[in-house]
Amino acid sequence: IKKITTNTLQKMKANGEKISMLTAYDFSFARLFDEAGLDVILVGDSASNVMAGHETTLPITLDQMIYHASSVIRGTNRALVIVDLPFGSYQSNSEVALASAIRIMKETGAHGLKLEGGEEIIDSVKKIVSAGIPVMGHLGLTPQSIYKFGTYNVRAKEEAEANKLKKDVQLLQEAGCFGVVLEKIPAQLAKEVTESLTIPTIGIGAGGYCDGQVLVMHDMLGINSEFKPRFLRQYLTLATDIKNAVQHYINDVKSQDFPNEKESY
Ligand code: KIV
Ligand code: NA
Repeated sequence: IKKITTNTLQKMKANGEKISMLTAYDFSFARLFDEAGLDVILVGDSASNVMAGHETTLPITLDQMIYHASSVIRGTNRALVIVDLPFGSYQSNSEVALASAIRIMKETGAHGLKLEGGEEIIDSVKKIVSAGIPVMGHLGLTPQSIYKFGTYNVRAKEEAEANKLKKDVQLLQEAGCFGVVLEKIPAQLAKEVTESLTIPTIGIGAGGYCDGQVLVMHDMLGINSEFKPRFLRQYLTLATDIKNAVQHYINDVKSQDFPNEKESY
């Protein structure tokens, strides 16, 4: 098996081959996604929402991210595995950021990290990159800043915010990032940004011009069926299927249909 590296992603952009990325948080799903041929697995801090049931990504800890990431790594052979640095583990200064980065790399075996923000965190990005750790940026609707934004609406619709994003993305590329996630921004802005960079852009709610796409696994598999933003494509309706299966099981237990003789010793 030829493993995906950050160099592979660079070549994919150069060749116009789109990059596929999904989140995963555990061994079993990571193994399925890897065997299906997914290019990149993101151990997202969206684990805070979909695994732990928090309303935002802010509460998840570095230790919890390390637990998820090490589980994902055990299920992965080919895919590149990128891990989110959680809120609070990198914002204070670049020394703290590097210490958090090193913990994840050492304790999980992950291949790279993702940090939210531009100019504000650029020293940390440089410090982590100079330690030999691949870093991915994340701009636009950065969920760790949800209380600053006050809404999950599309970002950078106004010129000032779009200009800041364009500046930030150049800073991230110059700082040595191997790619950048663009979340919930206008497709035309994502197109302009993508064409201005040599590193790949991975979009979520950022249109079809990005070099790749990422979705949260629970959203694309229809596990949280209530969450249906415009940018999401649901490939399964697992919420319904799982509830039906569990109801079927309950009925079989109550009616003593399960277990039958063949299912007994
Ligand atoms: O945590 C996450 O799932 C993410 C993706 C949505 C990009 O950061
Ligand atoms: Na995230």
